[in-house]
Amino acid sequence: MNSPRRWTLRTDRTSYTVRLSADGPWAELDAWGPLGAEDGPSPLDWSHRTHFITPADAAPAEYLPSGLRPFTGADLVAARPGAERGVWWEFAGAEEAPGSLRLAFADDVLGLRTVLCYAVVPGTDVLLRWTELTCTGEETLRLERLDSGAVTVPAADGVRLTYLTGQWSQEFQRTRLDLTRGTFTMGSTQGVPGHAYAPWLAVQDRHAPEDGPAPTYGVALAWPGNWHITAEAEPGGTVRVRAGRVPHEGTVPLAPGDTLTTPRLACAFSSEGLDGLARVWHRYERHLSGERLGRTRKVLYNSWEATGFDVEAAGQLELAKAAADIGAELFVVDDGWFTGRADDTGGLGDWYPDPAAFPRGFGRFVEDVRGLGLDFGLWVEPEAVSPNSRLYAEHPDWVYRVDGRPARLVRNQLLLDLGREDVQDFVVSTLDRLLCEYAVSYLKWDMNRPPTERGRPGAGPADRLDLDAGHVTGYLRILDHLRTAHPQVTVEGCAGGGGRVEHATLARTDVVWPSDNTAPLDRLRIQFGFLHAHAPHLMSSWVTDAPGVFDPRPRSLAFRFVTALCGVLGIGADLRTWGPARRAEAARWIARYKEVREVVHHGEARLLGTPDDPTCGVQYDAQDGARTVVAAFGTGRLDGAPLVPGRAARLRLRGLDPAARYHDTASAATYSGAHLLHYGLPFAWTAEHDADLVVLKRQ
Ligand code: DGJ
Repeated sequence: MNSPRRWTLRTDRTSYTVRLSADGPWAELDAWGPLGAEDGPSPLDWSHRTHFITPADAAPAEYLPSGLRPFTGADLVAARPGAERGVWWEFAGAEEAPGSLRLAFADDVLGLRTVLCYAVVPGTDVLLRWTELTCTGEETLRLERLDSGAVTVPAADGVRLTYLTGQWSQEFQRTRLDLTRGTFTMGSTQGVPGHAYAPWLAVQDRHAPEDGPAPTYGVALAWPGNWHITAEAEPGGTVRVRAGRVPHEGTVPLAPGDTLTTPRLACAFSSEGLDGLARVWHRYERHLSGERLGRTRKVLYNSWEATGFDVEAAGQLELAKAAADIGAELFVVDDGWFTGRADDTGGLGDWYPDPAAFPRGFGRFVEDVRGLGLDFGLWVEPEAVSPNSRLYAEHPDWVYRVDGRPARLVRNQLLLDLGREDVQDFVVSTLDRLLCEYAVSYLKWDMNRPPTERGRPGAGPADRLDLDAGHVTGYLRILDHLRTAHPQVTVEGCAGGGGRVEHATLARTDVVWPSDNTAPLDRLRIQFGFLHAHAPHLMSSWVTDAPGVFDPRPRSLAFRFVTALCGVLGIGADLRTWGPARRAEAARWIARYKEVREVVHHGEARLLGTPDDPTCGVQYDAQDGARTVVAAFGTGRLDGAPLVPGRAARLRLRGLDPAARYHDTASAATYSGAHLLHYGLPFAWTAEHDADLVVLKRQ
């Protein structure tokens, strides 16, 4: 039974219990784990023998301001202009409803009401947390820190943090760190989540098995702007993780009567290690996709790697014809289709098809593509503007710039201030025009430069404007508009590869582009990291030419197909150079993918091993258990020597019924579940056969 000072929120398989502290006016975590874990003394209780700090500093606090928590990390720092910083509040009441909780705290001296909000996401093991901050006084407050929430993990001897790091072309690298004392922080002030870190963190006891079952806690922040996630190993054997947006310009103003709602912090738990946690996130992201999960993700062809900026009707149609012949269902013209876009120095902002590239008209070109039986898709970068564009000449004040200072170029372009309503309206009307004038059913939204000089010409100092939130609001408003005004259009999110992958974007797009790097072994590693945090139905992936733009290590066409069909399969190779044998092989892979994509996109995925192992894979189980699809990779040497002399490589499957029998129709082999769980599925890798797709039917 809940007492009025203790509340338990339950997800499908987990519970999260919060209590009011006996030591002061704050809420603290009592228990978080599998259902029933709250039934007993809290593992987060502490001895109170910690000298030289305050009880609030040692408490597993859910959210505390700097006034009350003077030494260890506070979640909220606020002040009135010209007055001392700090918030000292009193508990002001709780509201509980099925699956949700609101705990209010009021500081009447400062004039700030803070409500900690909790909501269970039905059908998942995810709890959402956020905070609402209302200015109840007469003066505008300045918020220096405004986190979404904090969670505390008991860890007597430190934790292992798993996070996803990278740079452009090397996103989502799974990275680990043991934290026994001190602070770990990651984030972005690039106005987007960025390539360097994903806004996602997993926390385990540092002595837990690396890739086996173990209690695993995760957080992910839904915010496509500046952010941080910070973990602090606190006195007394806990690690506290707090997360939120970062006020890039120093502070965020909060005017009298206004309420600021922080981004949602999704909190997830699994007893089954990182792999189990990944499935919790996958299920949550299927929930985020809503009814659009049911939309078949079509096999696309994208022309970027084949033609670059050299886009013209005849070449594109030749590619489209070849793509249709091998089974593609959608043709996307990438960058380079609009006026002034001979290279990356011009054109952005002037979103009109280049008449020289499409002499018979763009509408006619689109219909020619569709006449091949393909849907048509278009690339846009709506936030960008080239300095030599007509748009910039007409609206030089629409870009971020600091008055009296030069505007720096990144990739030869500037960034529109999407916080301005007139800019949002321009983008909306531009997209409406393109989507209504041409039969476009797929839009790739790219973004290739972060905001640098964050100012709004003529509007005064940026620390009064909250430009970061303005940009986020504009971006999300336009994505929402696309969903309501053009529901038939599938939207792909992209930011120079995977620079803007987080839950607010994923809730409004149908797929995302994780990285520009499509080289086989590099891609495998990127996707391995991506699938820890994100669901397969969102993971766009192309088969490209070998050796390709990046990694020169050779792998077969099969390897490249099996890698790409781990998510949403696309083709990015220059098919004009492919002979009949390669096209026929590609057609066979695409046909096989179409047979299994339902299981890949809707099933339960398990990561088998890691790309550091000579054999690794991904297992997808259909929700009804009737089919199991295994994408398997030989990542080791391909010089002809067997990996284990005389023996086949094996990939141990998981989660199967040991008593059931599983039939591989392609090889006609039948295995017991017990065999597949105990010994694994056998593979004999060679240079020609370095990847496989096995479909097992449960008999
Ligand atoms: C970056 C994207 O990630 C690529 O896929 C491609 O669309 C280029 N931009 C085009 O400029």
